[in-house]
Amino acid sequence: MLELPDRSVWVRRIGAEPSYPRLMDNRPPYDGLADWYDQEIRRLGVTATALQSLTGLLGGGPGKCLDLGCGTGIAIRDLAKLGWTVVGVDVSADQLRVAREQTGDLSAELIEANASHLPFPSNSFDAVASMFTHTDFDDPHGVFAEVYRVLRPGGTFVYVGTHPCFVTPYVERKPDAFVLHPGYRRRGWTSSGPGFGEGIRPRVGVNHQTLADFLNAIIRSGLRLTTVDEPGDEDYPILFAIAADRPHTT
Ligand SMILES: C[S@@+](CC[C@H](N)C(=O)[O-])C[C@H]1O[C@@H](n2cnc3c(N)ncnc32)[C@H](O)[C@@H]1O
Repeated sequence: MLELPDRSVWVRRIGAEPSYPRLMDNRPPYDGLADWYDQEIRRLGVTATALQSLTGLLGGGPGKCLDLGCGTGIAIRDLAKLGWTVVGVDVSADQLRVAREQTGDLSAELIEANASHLPFPSNSFDAVASMFTHTDFDDPHGVFAEVYRVLRPGGTFVYVGTHPCFVTPYVERKPDAFVLHPGYRRRGWTSSGPGFGEGIRPRVGVNHQTLADFLNAIIRSGLRLTTVDEPGDEDYPILFAIAADRPHTT
């Protein structure tokens, strides 16, 4: 069994405290679930496709890359292999504990902080990558504003997550058909719906955004979209991916 030092030694904890008024105990939703989450995310077939899309859109380093909402660190090894110096940020200390176990042999820095109030100076990253987070952030506008701020001009932001149209609390995925229940425009947090099934979402809920909400939040942050993709070969896509950059000012 791996002996871990005290958490304060290997995770720097900085930045504004988020609050989770929707939760009884006001703890980050993934605290207490991290070991289970890590097994689940590694088991899912879609994870490999998402990682391939993330790294393909981002391309190689060198440079400093922020993995925003890094969770248990599933993307960190692939990003490091591409030559990036990775800094992982997550609000859940439990997720970061597992991330450290999974990436202890790498030099990635892991920081417990809120993506809406990042503890970094402006222009301090060459790239920002994020995977499966847009349905977990309380404040997507605040997060994308922070992505813009911490990226250097010319830096790249890459996001891969579940498709905002076809993977929602209101889309029931049956083996032979997708059933669209009423609710696509019902934005915000929900903890149940015909699209929940089993797995991660019944445990942590979903902050549902429409496709337009998601894209507009990025555009309004000042980032410039360069690619929109629907990775994978399913008939109706499960994944949605974008690349954007922080434009050089003229
Ligand atoms: C579905 S998990 C994705 C984790 C990882 N990116 C992956 O692909 O496995 C969403 C992650 O976002 C984190 N998260 C949610 N809100 C956050 C916030 N405001 N700031 C930083 N991390 C946040 C959660 O703690 C969780 O680890």
